[in-house]
Amino acid sequence: MVEFNLPANSRPTKGKVFKAEPGAVNIRRFRVYRYDPDLSDNPRIDTFEVDLDKCGPMVLDAMIKIKDEIDSTLTFRRSCREGVCGSCAFNIDGTNTLACTKPLSEIKGDVKIYPLPHMPVIKDLVCDLNQPYAQYKAIEPWIQADTPAPNRERLQSEEERAKLDGMWECILCFCCQSSCPSYWWNGDRYMGPAVLLQANRWIQDSRDEATGNRLDELDDSFRVFRCHTIMNCTNTCPKSLNPGKAIGEIKEALFKRQ
Ligand code: SF4
Ligand code: SF4
Ligand code: FES
Repeated sequence: MVEFNLPANSRPTKGKVFKAEPGAVNIRRFRVYRYDPDLSDNPRIDTFEVDLDKCGPMVLDAMIKIKDEIDSTLTFRRSCREGVCGSCAFNIDGTNTLACTKPLSEIKGDVKIYPLPHMPVIKDLVCDLNQPYAQYKAIEPWIQADTPAPNRERLQSEEERAKLDGMWECILCFCCQSSCPSYWWNGDRYMGPAVLLQANRWIQDSRDEATGNRLDELDDSFRVFRCHTIMNCTNTCPKSLNPGKAIGEIKEALFKRQ
């Protein structure tokens, strides 16, 4: 079996331990990845003891408590705290998911929080998402139609509209993108599941008239066909979407027009 090792300067070391306040009874340990680009140190895993009797029920509640009350330098993205903005995606307890919708009660033992895997880390839990966003821009995620716009909106039948279900709900959290082995190894050329699900959202839209161009752009041995149907993407999506199926629909559309 092939084994991969992190370079020596990337291996996390044991970090600081922040003990709970005296008198706390319901204590949970959070092991959190820390990396400071201004230091030459390796990343480290800090341990925070949190009193769950004084904390909300979700992983993000504990992270905000840690930042507010224990270590204000802990850096992470979050905004809506209700599974809509896609900012708080991390690797939690070994799975890519949203911290704001992940209940602490679902995690046994210490809560391990790492950045999304295989993404360059800017600081602590903040990843550099420039590459997937550039790929998202490349699929031109807006309606394209030469037919003059009617006075009112461009109409769809109920069946046409239903084709977009399971895709419009995507919040671009990139949990799927960073769980995909094909994207780990070929992310510079393979578009990845989040971007392809979004591409299919426009390919399947009955109002869009650029389907041919969209398929031309994807018809490449890497951009779509690096998907090997491993389905990590679908298994990890915190919105219960199915990027693997969306990729299958793009492949089908490409085969059908040959
Ligand atoms: S498909 Fe799911 S996991 Fe992937 S970006 Fe969209 S919401 Fe996130
Ligand atoms: S199904 Fe395709 S996109 Fe999803 S994890 Fe597997 S290779 Fe990646
Ligand atoms: S904070 Fe917006 S999805 Fe979690």
